[in-house]
Amino acid sequence: MSEGKSGLQLRSLLKKSGELELSLVDVPTPEPADDEVVVRVEATPINPSDLGLLIGPADMSTAEESGSADAPVITAKMPEAAMRMMAARLDQSLPVGNEGAGVVIRTGSSDAAKALMGKAVSMIGGAMYTQYRTIKVRDIMELPSGTTPADGASWFVNPLTALGMTETMRRENHKALVHTAAASNLGQMLNKICIKDGIGLVNIVRSKEQADILHKIGAKYVVDSTADTFMDDLTNALVETGATIAFDAIGGGKLASQILTCMEIAANKTAKEYSRYGSNVCKQVYIYGSLDNRPTELSRTFGLTWGVGGWLLTPFLQKIGPAEIGRLRQRVASELKTTFASHYTQVVSLQETLQLSNIAIYNKRSTGEKFLINPNKG
Ligand SMILES: NC(=O)c1ccc[n+]([C@@H]2O[C@H](COP(=O)([O-])OP(=O)(O)OC[C@H]3O[C@@H](n4cnc5c(N)ncnc54)[C@H](OP(=O)(O)O)[C@@H]3O)[C@@H](O)[C@H]2O)c1
Repeated sequence: MSEGKSGLQLRSLLKKSGELELSLVDVPTPEPADDEVVVRVEATPINPSDLGLLIGPADMSTAEESGSADAPVITAKMPEAAMRMMAARLDQSLPVGNEGAGVVIRTGSSDAAKALMGKAVSMIGGAMYTQYRTIKVRDIMELPSGTTPADGASWFVNPLTALGMTETMRRENHKALVHTAAASNLGQMLNKICIKDGIGLVNIVRSKEQADILHKIGAKYVVDSTADTFMDDLTNALVETGATIAFDAIGGGKLASQILTCMEIAANKTAKEYSRYGSNVCKQVYIYGSLDNRPTELSRTFGLTWGVGGWLLTPFLQKIGPAEIGRLRQRVASELKTTFASHYTQVVSLQETLQLSNIAIYNKRSTGEKFLINPNKG
């Protein structure tokens, strides 16, 4: 039998009873249509957005391991309050993993598909925590020579989101930007983009270690939200850069409000006259992550010219259209090992992904603790 007719796939199932179950199932690999190929998946990252589907708000202090070493099963309780948000996924066994990379082992009959036989490629489209993935040619990118699947595993979500931030900044007429949880994998990419493109960037972090990481790669403005001087430090950086748009990965708590407040103070420092309605400078915070699940608290001390909204990669890409997407993808391909390089602390198999000791590490979403899954490891 030829390789990859079936393979293991990681599934996340939230039962109506409130129990989350993670397991591996053996699934047949769909035969490729004319415009499709079958890829042996060799590298796929565990990003916060994957964890949202894999584990979500489940209470992992209740997690238990069962099954066997080859077919582990994890179960955990979902808090009652979180179940309402999950109604649309109840009792569905869902595949996980937004992006990945591997080697084409079978192709459909189109010329574009056949040209990819044996090539290392990156993919986007979900269900990547699987040994074999049938996928359309349009959803893959051939990796440049000298690049391994591990180099190309995180080619889409974080790189295009970081590029999407500077594009959004330009399209909405801002000249510099603010970023939170800024020492993240994505934050480091954003720093490299901004340094290369000459864009002012104010990084907000929550520890000295994170500040050191960013200074080391050349960041100029790094402010620590845990410092007593945070509001003054942020205001000064905003005055110097002129940043009036922020991308906030944290979401919960007061940070979005603090950013808008400091933007307003910065705007008033250069205002020509007093306005009782606040400055007329447009101040925007986009919440693009949920690292903190608490409510977003706004204390409106920043006038009336402001906005807080959500930002998601997919609608942004739909808005800019295929030609612009192609340009951004081309930039990622040519800077894959520099600007858009990702670092991983561990490479795990599908079975190792479902070990409680590993889940405890990657589910913390800590700086520099990213895991890479190789579904065909060993
Ligand atoms: N909207 C979109 O389309 C989109 C697309 C891609 C990524 N994202 C989001 O981008 C963010 C970064 O992704 P990544 O892969 O670069 O992450 P990452 O490398 O895993 O880093 C996560 C960072 O978040 C910090 N963090 C975790 N919990 C926090 C909290 N409660 N408060 C403050 N900081 C916290 C960590 O710092 P510590 O070490 O201090 O914990 C770490 O620096 C994620 O929120 C992800 O969901 C959104």
